[in-house]
Amino acid sequence: MRSGRDAGVMAVRPPHGVQSEIRGLSSELDDENYEFLRRLIYSESRIHLGSDKRALVASRLAKRLRELRIGSFDAYCELLRSNEGVEERRHLVDRISTNHTQFFREMKHFDFIRDRVIPSWQTRKGSATGVLRVWSAACSSGEEPYSLAIFLAEHLAPSARAAWQIEASDISTRILEKASTGIYPADRVNGMRHDWLQRHFQKGVGEWSGSFRVKDSLRDRVRFHHLNLLEPNYPFQQPFQLILCRNVMIYFDRATQESLVSYLSRWLEPGGFLMVGHSESLSGIHHGLNLVQPAIYQKPAP
Ligand SMILES: C[S@@+](CC[C@H](N)C(=O)[O-])C[C@H]1O[C@@H](n2cnc3c(N)ncnc32)[C@H](O)[C@@H]1O
Repeated sequence: MRSGRDAGVMAVRPPHGVQSEIRGLSSELDDENYEFLRRLIYSESRIHLGSDKRALVASRLAKRLRELRIGSFDAYCELLRSNEGVEERRHLVDRISTNHTQFFREMKHFDFIRDRVIPSWQTRKGSATGVLRVWSAACSSGEEPYSLAIFLAEHLAPSARAAWQIEASDISTRILEKASTGIYPADRVNGMRHDWLQRHFQKGVGEWSGSFRVKDSLRDRVRFHHLNLLEPNYPFQQPFQLILCRNVMIYFDRATQESLVSYLSRWLEPGGFLMVGHSESLSGIHHGLNLVQPAIYQKPAP
């Protein structure tokens, strides 16, 4: 893993001793167990962890071990190796991946949707499915797909209001459960335009005071899927005019990034757009897309 901002690896303390801070956890994450975990995480998710990420792995897993009342990394790795460990492998990836996100992250992408994606879809709509289809491919706790939903609701002409759909997916079941509730603490929505907040969220009262919930009219537009982007048997029927795959490629090595871009490209309509995170770049990767502006690519139209 590169030490990118979104991979959440910068907060890691130096790996001296890599002694877990969790009381009762008796042993360190030694070379052998770290190597086993590193390989397992790669084979399950293609997340590539360098040798410098041992402290990160130890600290993220320590809490999981405590939940399971497992007292050592030896015992935890034993569980992962066993038949009973199949389900636990999913939790393992959940704990290692970083889910940092926010509403309207990288606003320039939303400006581009208003100025280029919507007009281009409206021009070509006659020949296409008639539905503007958008995929938030690593959606984390839902802020990205709900931002898209708010933005489309605000910017599409009334006549097009019925004709858009957002698919959202992530590898983490834990984070998807959170996303599908559409409930966020007030500090997550604080920076949003007041009129959008009023139109698209319900303010919690009583025990929900201090929270906001995305209104059903928007939640109905977003369908959540559990999927691993590196297993390209994606469950969709139709291609997309826009795919956002932002702040996830940073986890992957070059070869994996190249495969992923090729899988995603197949799901783009000709003329459709792919957005990656601003700190991610497809330079050095073979792909058949045209660079439109930094972090935005377009599939050539025939
Ligand atoms: C840092 S968040 C990015 C969220 C959002 N796209 C954004 O830019 O704000 C990265 C997300 O990618 C997900 N992820 C990591 N590996 C994945 C994989 N192989 N397939 C699908 N999702 C993955 C993580 O679970 C996490 O929720």
